[in-house]
Amino acid sequence: MPLDIVIGSQWGDEGKGRIIDLLAGDADIVARFNGGDNAGHSVTVADQLFKLHLIPSGIIQPHTICVMGAGMVVNPQILLEEVDHLTKLGIDVSPQRLKLSYAAHLITPAHTALDGAEESEKGQGLLGTTRRGIGPTYADKATRIGLRAEDLLNEDLLHQKLDRILDHANKLLEHVYNRESLDKESIRHAFHTYADRLRPYITNVGALVHDKLNSHGTVLAEGAQGTLLDLDHGTYPFVTSSHPTAPGALLGLGIGPQHIRRIIGITKSFQTRVGEGPFPTEASGDAAARLRGTGEHPWDEFGTTTGRPRRCGWLDAVLLRYTARINGFTEIALTKLDILTNIDPLNICVSYQRGEQQFKDLPQGPADLSPFSPVLEPLPGWENDLTQIRSWNDLPSPARSYIERVETLTGLSVRLISVGPERDQIIDRSLSE
Ligand code: IMP
Repeated sequence: MPLDIVIGSQWGDEGKGRIIDLLAGDADIVARFNGGDNAGHSVTVADQLFKLHLIPSGIIQPHTICVMGAGMVVNPQILLEEVDHLTKLGIDVSPQRLKLSYAAHLITPAHTALDGAEESEKGQGLLGTTRRGIGPTYADKATRIGLRAEDLLNEDLLHQKLDRILDHANKLLEHVYNRESLDKESIRHAFHTYADRLRPYITNVGALVHDKLNSHGTVLAEGAQGTLLDLDHGTYPFVTSSHPTAPGALLGLGIGPQHIRRIIGITKSFQTRVGEGPFPTEASGDAAARLRGTGEHPWDEFGTTTGRPRRCGWLDAVLLRYTARINGFTEIALTKLDILTNIDPLNICVSYQRGEQQFKDLPQGPADLSPFSPVLEPLPGWENDLTQIRSWNDLPSPARSYIERVETLTGLSVRLISVGPERDQIIDRSLSE
């Protein structure tokens, strides 16, 4: 009855989608448990690029059931657009394969409008949210006025709750933010249509996952975003409003910890961040430009959801040790090693310095990293193209040393290494060493 959990170990965009796609080959259920369409997962299969925001990346594997757990916030319009898009590409996204938890919260135009208005209002202090309504929807959940997927099953309740949310948002939009109010009638109508289409997808996801685990099935929990964006344990306030962590997977699906087999920390070979907030190893100039790419390839460092250029820098082992602890990683999957080709020297942050003092671990969590400067260790680079390499022994020796240094600094094994976006561009050390 194994549960494997895949978690981003940085600020999101670690390349989780392609690792999920790989591991989903052995999974019966692939389950997303947090966040909403602020996420963007890209999976490339045979020259076809799938960009997913809500539906678990496991949907590309034809045999899996994909579920969206109670910890998610779902914009029904985006979900249906994604269903239509995948259907056009020949992927089965029927209610037999895709399930939405009755307890997932729904994002309405009120939430997206408020997210945008609040961000604009913050001026200098803005968080750089994706403006997808994530924060306001989780806020309504916490204050217990949120709209849940199950409300789509009861027309009167749907109207009542939607009206309350829209009335409240309109007051804020008009009187606090000086913006146009939302048209209630058209939103009501749209939600009727969503309800008609989404009803068959709404299920008791927790029970389904639980039953599958108890009958010796394999469940793969797919985290969106990354641990450093966790509401409690991330770089607060520059975080998202959910829990993209291994404990968050249990909470967001409604299952206990006894089923866990592997907790895989997906780690990009360097560090990126989109939006505002601390980033001690951020690089500038040529190094940052090399890591980011030009934007001409889908794998270059530009946001899947917002298109924003990502901030890029060196791998930060202090933060990685911290996120390994929060999640209890059993191993690391290192992505995008091929991007480091022709960068010499490479740097890894091994500790932080404040005045004369060096810290191997964060004295107080990652919220305020401003007093620290990173201690960077230079490592030799390599010139070889890695994209055709499939076995550990074929990697150039500086690349192996780089990975071994990551292992020493974290005390974890790096079992999977990706060297390109294609499904087969992976080195699985359990097979190739
Ligand atoms: P929100 O989740 O839209 O509220 O945005 C809060 C912060 O999380 C912002 O800095 C976003 O850029 C960041 N964020 C949210 N989702 C993702 C993601 O999937 N990848 C990377 N950053 C994200």
